[in-house]
Amino acid sequence: MAIERTFSIIKPDATRRNLTGKINAVFEEAGLRVVAQKRIQMTTAQAESFYGVHSARGFFRDLVNFMTSGPVVVQVLEGENAVARNRELMGATDPSKADAGTIRALFAENIEANSVHGSDSPENAAIEIAYFFAGLEIVG
Ligand code: RTP
Ligand code: MG
Repeated sequence: MAIERTFSIIKPDATRRNLTGKINAVFEEAGLRVVAQKRIQMTTAQAESFYGVHSARGFFRDLVNFMTSGPVVVQVLEGENAVARNRELMGATDPSKADAGTIRALFAENIEANSVHGSDSPENAAIEIAYFFAGLEIVG
């Protein structure tokens, strides 16, 4: 299994409840390393572009409003099989369907305010990392 990088966001519902440390403890205890990180306030244009794949969905405007409702922590996680491992640790989109012990089961408020984002493929991980970080900001 190769060492991979994936892109992660700690969403506004989690920064509001001061959960960034508890969430990153789950990643670190599972062997993923935070190799880049910053706290930002996403603009509407950034959120629309980032979630552009969902622009035709009924929940799109709500999602953009939510993602711009407070600060987020954007970060790069590195480790064995990091893309799939991060998705496993996050749990299902809807926290009522997320496996026990996953971040969303532990912390998410609902299907929208679900505490974390994670890239869904290595290809999207590369695109998403490059959207938020310059190469020199990633230190493995
Ligand atoms: P993410 O992209 O944030 O990692 O989440 P995901 O892959 O598990 O879910 P996705 O289908 O890509 O949806 C992106 C985000 O949109 C919000 N959402 N709201 N109200 C709804 O029915 C609904 N469905 C999705 C969530 O914040 C979800 O994570
Ligand atoms: Mg997704």
